[in-house]
Amino acid sequence: MRRFRRLVSRANGAAGACALAWREGGIGGVRRLVEDAAYWRLHPRVREWRAQLPHQEAIDDAFDKRFGVDTAGEVPLAEVGISGSDVERGHGRYRPVWTSVFHEAMSTLAIRFERFTFIDYGSGKGKALLLASEYPFDQIIGVEFARLLHDIAAQNIRQYASPTMRCKAMRSECADALDFVPPPRPLVCFFFNPFDDATMDAVIAGLVGHPRKHPREIFVVYCNMRDVKEHLDAFRRRPGLELIAQRPRFLTFRAALT
Ligand SMILES: C[S@@+](CC[C@H](N)C(=O)[O-])C[C@H]1O[C@@H](n2cnc3c(N)ncnc32)[C@H](O)[C@@H]1O
Repeated sequence: MRRFRRLVSRANGAAGACALAWREGGIGGVRRLVEDAAYWRLHPRVREWRAQLPHQEAIDDAFDKRFGVDTAGEVPLAEVGISGSDVERGHGRYRPVWTSVFHEAMSTLAIRFERFTFIDYGSGKGKALLLASEYPFDQIIGVEFARLLHDIAAQNIRQYASPTMRCKAMRSECADALDFVPPPRPLVCFFFNPFDDATMDAVIAGLVGHPRKHPREIFVVYCNMRDVKEHLDAFRRRPGLELIAQRPRFLTFRAALT
């Protein structure tokens, strides 16, 4: 009986979502809804991501325990003071990047790290900042618009002391990525799927769109733990970026020298 009730409630929910999609977008809206639902339930990459979550969460917990920090777990942005459309613009929730994916992405950068500033756009509790400190970057900056997450990141930075740390000039800034102006130095710009395409367009345009103003090398690393193909087309449309590495969970680009 309980199972039957659950089925009826799911069918009601699906019918309501279809009706809303129809009202808002007609047949195109309903088709997008069905495609999205199929992607989230059936796509092999999404299923693989789901299957790996418990293992990755155990790795995140072990990292936190070892260093006495707080980076693990998901946090809905609505629970940390982000409101309305900014929740959607910011893809709904904080999640820490997977350690192995971060290091694999860094290994595609054939650079002298000392010359570069690492920026994490949408840095949350600062997991990527702590991982980046294992490389001899000139400095490491996180940009996070949720003050509560920024405060946790700042505490994590104070607390973190890895014996293999190679950059200690590390800080979190509480700001919207759209308002953040990076220092005029060579940059590694890191994005773990933090925003919608419109925000990403604006941030990338701000980085590569001012030739002659601050001539410097810029690398862009985009991570997505499910599948980078979710946003590959949007990246292909962006001018000024040359793809130098593509793996299932990250893309690395070199910006045309500006
Ligand atoms: C998926 S989490 C990634 C956290 C971190 N970069 C990491 O790799 O562990 C994305 C973060 O981006 C933040 N974010 C989303 N939109 C933002 C914006 N416009 N400006 C600054 N931060 C933003 C969210 O609050 C969230 O903490």
